[in-house]
Amino acid sequence: MENPDLQKIVADAESSLPDVSNKPQWEQTKATFLGPNGSLTQFAKGIGAVAKEDRPAFGKALNQAKGIVESLFQNRLTAIEEIEDLKALGDKIDPTLPSVSSLQGGLHPLTKTRRKIISIFRKIGFTVAEATEVETEWFCFDALNTPDDHPARDEQDTLFFPPHSKWANIQRKKDESYLLRTHTSSVQIRTMLREKPPLRVIAPGRCFRRDTVDATHSANFHQTEGLFIDHKVTVRDLKGVLDFFLRELFGEKVETRLRPSFFPFTEPSFEVDLKVPDLGKLSNKWIEIMGCGMVDPKVLGLVDIDPDEWTGFAFGLGIERVTMLLHGIDDIRHFYQNDQRFLSQFSSQV
Ligand code: DAH
Repeated sequence: MENPDLQKIVADAESSLPDVSNKPQWEQTKATFLGPNGSLTQFAKGIGAVAKEDRPAFGKALNQAKGIVESLFQNRLTAIEEIEDLKALGDKIDPTLPSVSSLQGGLHPLTKTRRKIISIFRKIGFTVAEATEVETEWFCFDALNTPDDHPARDEQDTLFFPPHSKWANIQRKKDESYLLRTHTSSVQIRTMLREKPPLRVIAPGRCFRRDTVDATHSANFHQTEGLFIDHKVTVRDLKGVLDFFLRELFGEKVETRLRPSFFPFTEPSFEVDLKVPDLGKLSNKWIEIMGCGMVDPKVLGLVDIDPDEWTGFAFGLGIERVTMLLHGIDDIRHFYQNDQRFLSQFSSQV
């Protein structure tokens, strides 16, 4: 572009743009070059005075200058828009900071333990059984050979519904009170009434007791019940199944022992203790983990299973207790407080 007038117009445009800092100003300035009275438009009108043979070169130079001026204005507009966007977002934005990652949800530690327990028992042929959290006295106590004067049946220990309550969808054996189940053992009874042996079920679920809340007690907690009924089942089968389960859960190095105990629905009954070399403060100490025993023939009789043909074992353990041992958690209340600082520690573990 050899025309000095055009060169001057382009140079003027270049030097005026850095001062243009908003859109109205940009429109105005642009009009002084490209508008109807703008310098380039005025220049174009001078074509009439140009000799015919020089007109193509004139036109070419004009278009070239126009193209340069237009792209200068376009670039400036983009810059102004960027500045305005940043202003709208606030002055404190630092675009060089990494973006905030979105918060990912995770499974509750009790859900993880429950799923782990289920997956271990699934490997050896157990299926999951479920029943209601509202129960009747017969299913929760009588059918489990728990006598009327047993302390669990006291209102001090169990949450009973008022006598007139009705739960039409919950099967009752007798016209007796409803309560919130104190253990998942009632699922044993519902399962044995519904299905014929051989049986292999685990029943994880929520239980309720009138406990005063402290670091190891909660009025609302979770258990997993287990029931195995077949021909000629012995204590050896019970020990084999529970050893397998505890090895899968706590690792190969776990040691276990059965200690004589008492439950109304099993005879003989045992507490299972375990010892693990790497369990924080509890390493290498005998810890009580669960109750178990051979299903009392009386219980089988109450649900019309012939105790001369069938024998079996049952067990029950606390899901909170297992989770606390596995992760070194020292207070059961953490599970129910929904505190992200606690829960997020488990969210990466599947
Ligand atoms: N129901 C018992 C409790 O809540 C736990 C239990 C012990 C369940 C022994 C069983 C068992 O099935 O055989 O403490």
